[in-house]
Amino acid sequence: MSSSPIIELIREKLDIIDVVSEYVPSLKRAGRNYKANCPFHNEKTPSFTVNPEKKIFYCFGCNSGGDIFKFVMDIEGLSFPEAARKLAAKAGVEYGDERAHQISPEDRERLDLKKIMRAASDFYQKALFSPAGEKARLYLGERRLNKMTVEKFELGWAPAGGSALMDELKQAGWSSDLALKAGLITEREGGRVADTFRARVMFPIKNQSGETIAFGGRVLDPEGIPKYLNSPETPLFSKRRTLYGLHEALPQVRRTGRLLLLEGYMDVIGAHQHGVDWAVAPLGTNLTLEHSGIVRRYAKDTVVMFDDDRAGIQASVKAAETFMEAGLYVRLASLDGGLDPDEYLNEHGRDAFEAKLAAAADPLDFRMNLFFKNKPTPTAQEKAQAIAVLLETVARQGDEVLKSEWVKNLSTRFGVEQASVLKQLRKTSVALPRETPRKAPAAPAMPQMEKGYIQLLLRDPGLIAQSDALAPEDFCSPLARTLFAALRALPPEALAKAPAALAAQYPEHSALVHELAVADLGPDASGGRDAAGAVRMLKRFSSERRLKELKALPSMDPQQLQEYSRLMLELKSSVKDK
Ligand code: CTP
Ligand code: MN
Repeated sequence: MSSSPIIELIREKLDIIDVVSEYVPSLKRAGRNYKANCPFHNEKTPSFTVNPEKKIFYCFGCNSGGDIFKFVMDIEGLSFPEAARKLAAKAGVEYGDERAHQISPEDRERLDLKKIMRAASDFYQKALFSPAGEKARLYLGERRLNKMTVEKFELGWAPAGGSALMDELKQAGWSSDLALKAGLITEREGGRVADTFRARVMFPIKNQSGETIAFGGRVLDPEGIPKYLNSPETPLFSKRRTLYGLHEALPQVRRTGRLLLLEGYMDVIGAHQHGVDWAVAPLGTNLTLEHSGIVRRYAKDTVVMFDDDRAGIQASVKAAETFMEAGLYVRLASLDGGLDPDEYLNEHGRDAFEAKLAAAADPLDFRMNLFFKNKPTPTAQEKAQAIAVLLETVARQGDEVLKSEWVKNLSTRFGVEQASVLKQLRKTSVALPRETPRKAPAAPAMPQMEKGYIQLLLRDPGLIAQSDALAPEDFCSPLARTLFAALRALPPEALAKAPAALAAQYPEHSALVHELAVADLGPDASGGRDAAGAVRMLKRFSSERRLKELKALPSMDPQQLQEYSRLMLELKSSVKDK
């Protein structure tokens, strides 16, 4: 990475706290450092730390870290020179021509990819307003989009020919290698290359700075397949991390702290045209944890509204749970008459639409409403089954106050004792949030000691009663954590068949579970002769690990110091006990 005098000057002039706070408003002073929930991964207690003197940031949760340039690159998805240019403007430093600076080959490529995407977008836009674009213009008119909206979203038309874009790009001096890498042209049978998008209405997909990083293309022919074709993943574009309309919605989202999630391109565009300008959509995928992490930088409150059909309702509940897992407040809104938001707005107008948003229910109420709509007078058994399923939503709620409120609502609405709902809730374990595949480090193998203990429990599940001193976090293997938590959550009557229950719950680990359950207990498999000894050892290892982590901190806040002293004491006495 380049470090020229200009870069040094920018670094010197800017306060890293100012820069980071713009994206992470919750950043708060904690001793010599500043802390907040990390914007790069999901967490509920802050491990994202900024040190104003050293001008660096570091997250103890996900190990991301670096200087202001790295921060802006990561949070905005920019290359180094782009981040530098942005920060130069902020610092009031003349950045000049990027060619005067050293640029890595990857950065160079990202810049070129953005330029070729821009060129393609201009081409599609021009085509829309050319004679060849007439059918597409008519179609957009039928969908009731006005010219201003078409221009704001830079909609376009990909000609039918098959090489119109490729020819144009070649003329302008772009290499076909770059066009391939950008996903604009595609290799077909026999090694021939052709335009990726042909005879489609084009929707540029932008990053949050408004640069085009991909396209979605819709067929005109109702029978055409696929209805929407999206750009492949490229160095610029990851659909897991991109929300359609975010650039356009950001000003309003920042102002109000709320964000509306809709299902498709057309819904977002229609919403904006009607003045509902805080709407975004995922890109033909489920909402991911990465999406919700991005949303969390700008909004606290979210409303999810998908199409009024079975698939839409299912997907909206899932999306709401993903928002919830990221610590966002979420409500679910629904339309009637089987209409998409875009159709509903055209038919009933903004006020009626906003009334629907205002009537949005929290995820639990939403699901209870659905249940009672189908079964106004459920039997006791139907109630029990419904409660078991609904408790999975409750279990995902990270806000303890809301959680207990939900337990109350659930018991009132179903007319059952709150105590039994609570008891049932304790038995409800939900799968942990899905991990970020790209960044997740390989899971460490399960240490022998932990494996031995889990094996002991699988062989004799009743021993779980003697595990009170342990928490799932005391295991360093994530799999051991999961299995331990699941074992503990099993209802007493299921304990006898613990291996089968776990294997059913985690089919991907069923081989290991069965292996552990049947394999011979090695002489030192449990690390100690008995379960109680194993618990003590595991606890001690866990404390030692945590101590090491604390010692490695550049500075400790009072809470950490307290934890440190407590752990030291515990360790000393546990050694004496031996
Ligand atoms: N989608 C996709 N690929 C498909 C179908 C759908 O990527 N083959 C995505 C698009 O983002 C689309 C969203 O899923 O906007 C919702 O799909 P659907 O409800 O089928 O489309 P609508 O948004 O209703 O599309 P339109 O109103 O244009 O018919
Ligand atoms: Mn639609």
